[in-house]
Amino acid sequence: MFDAISSQASKLVNLTNKVRGNYKSKTKLVTITSGKGGVGKSTFTANIAFLLSKRGFKVAVIDADIGLANMQVLLNLKPKVTLFDYIDGMKSLDEVILKTDYEDLYLIAGKSGFQYSNHSNSFIFSRIVQDVIDLNKFDIVLVDTGAGLNDYVKEFLSISDNILAITTTDPSALTDVYSLIKMLSNDKSKLMLCFNHTKSYQIGNTIVNSLINLAKKNRLSEDFMVKYIGNVSTSANISTTGRLRKLFTKEFVQDDSTRQLQVIIDYLLKNIH
Ligand SMILES: Nc1ncnc2c1ncn2[C@@H]1O[C@H](COP(=O)(O)OP(=O)(O)O)[C@@H](O)[C@H]1O
Ligand SMILES: [Mg+2]
Repeated sequence: MFDAISSQASKLVNLTNKVRGNYKSKTKLVTITSGKGGVGKSTFTANIAFLLSKRGFKVAVIDADIGLANMQVLLNLKPKVTLFDYIDGMKSLDEVILKTDYEDLYLIAGKSGFQYSNHSNSFIFSRIVQDVIDLNKFDIVLVDTGAGLNDYVKEFLSISDNILAITTTDPSALTDVYSLIKMLSNDKSKLMLCFNHTKSYQIGNTIVNSLINLAKKNRLSEDFMVKYIGNVSTSANISTTGRLRKLFTKEFVQDDSTRQLQVIIDYLLKNIH
């Protein structure tokens, strides 16, 4: 399934490149995902986006979670337009790229409860990502996918080489992450992994090593790499700021969790392409 989606999506991307003269956009794409919901994907996406903008990058976030599109809450917007208005041809790309209150940080909002089946087989969802990249206006585009491994999430993963998965140490979250590793190992070269709600860096490292050993035992592709890139502790400040439509990395600059997220960003900036 992933193979079929991947090859169709990359054909589209190739076609786009040909039409546009094969120039290379400066925009880098990072897709943020998780097997399980509620692990902190959207919180990470919004705060990573903010910290990247503070480091001088122009950043766009695409809320691709159709189950629970809440990026507008975290970025304190009440959008009248969403990515579906672009997909349905009602609005131009410029019209759906919304300015946030944060300098150099833009949002393409999602919409909860959208029926994927209405649009399936057309790859228009991942096409919006390619169109934003082709604008050549942003340094980095972050895509927040929904949880699970449905066709919709697979489509977004298929067009990205920089994939960051968020997990907790919860057995069910780890089972889901392993399913993700198994699927990605067929087509991709690498998955970056970070742990949320995890105080100790070392615990994350130990668990990642077990996942790698399991992958070896199950003979997943040896060319596929799982790279542990950091952990974020549980912090009451994170949940409180989220509820108040604020960003913890802006409000609590000196918090452990903010510093931990900066370590993750240091890795991302050195390793994404
Ligand atoms: N490290 C953390 N400490 C405390 N609360 C957190 C932390 N990470 C996430 N949360 C809270 O957990 C809830 C789910 O996070 P969210 O980012 O929406 O998850 P997802 O996007 O994966 O479904 C939110 O209420 C958020 O504020
Ligand atoms: Mg979310």
